[in-house]
Amino acid sequence: MSLTVEPAKPRIGGIIRVDKNHLLDDETIETVRRELEQRGVLVFPELNASDELQLAFTDRLGDRVNFTRKVPGSDSETPDVYKITLDRKLNTEPDYVLGTFFWHVDGITIDQPLPKATVLSARKLSASGGATEFANLYAAYDLLPEAEKRELENLRVIHTVEAAVRPVHGTPSAERIERYRNLAAVMEQPLVWTHEDGRKSLLLGTHADGIVGMPGAHGRALLTRLQQWAAQPDLVYTHNWTEGDLVIWNNQGVMHRVVPYTDEGRIMHRTTIAGKEKPGHVASDQELERIYQMA
Ligand SMILES: [Fe+2]
Repeated sequence: MSLTVEPAKPRIGGIIRVDKNHLLDDETIETVRRELEQRGVLVFPELNASDELQLAFTDRLGDRVNFTRKVPGSDSETPDVYKITLDRKLNTEPDYVLGTFFWHVDGITIDQPLPKATVLSARKLSASGGATEFANLYAAYDLLPEAEKRELENLRVIHTVEAAVRPVHGTPSAERIERYRNLAAVMEQPLVWTHEDGRKSLLLGTHADGIVGMPGAHGRALLTRLQQWAAQPDLVYTHNWTEGDLVIWNNQGVMHRVVPYTDEGRIMHRTTIAGKEKPGHVASDQELERIYQMA
C-alpha cells in the first residue's frame, strides 16, 4: 500500500495520499489518528468517497454522532450524514449554514463531550467562495507570551448559539431565540483547555459570548483579540476544495469557517466523531450574571 503524508503549512495542515481501497486499513487509521493531533487538519485530495465509505471511515476512528439531527439538512436516508447546503429545496432554514461563515468549533453549545473530529466531503461546489479555513488552537496557546498564558489560565467562557448566529441575523426575533434555546445549551467552557493528555489549547469562536465574572464588553473585547491572534496567517490553513476531496479535522484543537458563497449548488456531506472529553458544563444563572451587563 502506498500512503504518503506531507505538511500543508509548517504549523497546520497535512495532505494524505492513499488509494480509497486502503482508507480503512489499520495503517491509514493509525496515521490519521497521529497526524490529527500533530497537524490539526488532513486533506485526502479527490478521494471521491461514497456516504458508505465516509461513514465506515468515521466508525473506524470512533463513535459516530450527529449533533444536528434537529436541524434541517439531516435527512432520513442517511441520518448520520449531515448535508451542508444553502439549497432551499434541501435546507429550509439556512441559519446554521450562514453561521459557518464565522469562526467556530462544531458542537460547542451542546451539553455533551466536545466532538473529537469532523469529516467533510465535497459533493458539489459553488462557482465562487466556499474555501474552508482552519486555525490551530493548540499553536495559538503555545505561542502566547508566558505572562499572558498565566492571566488566561483560569478564565471561563460562555458559549451560546445566539452569539453564533448574531452576525447572521443581527438581533434575532424572540421566536428564533426560543427555537435556539430548544436546540442547544448555554455552555460554560474553559478558555484554556487542558486536555487529558496534558496538551493545552484555546477554545474560541463566534459562539463565545463573554467571560464569567467580567462585564460583557470587557470579556468580548478579550475574546475578539484572542480570536484575531489565533487566526494569524501562520496558524491558518485554507482549503480550496476540488470535488471529491475529503477533509478531516481535530475539532478539539481547531476552529474553522468558510469563505462566503452564494451559489446554491454547493453541497458538502458531514459526519462527526464523538469526543470523550467534556471540558464544559451548562452555565448557571450566576455565571451569566455580569456578562449581560454593560460595565
Ligand atoms: Fe462547522
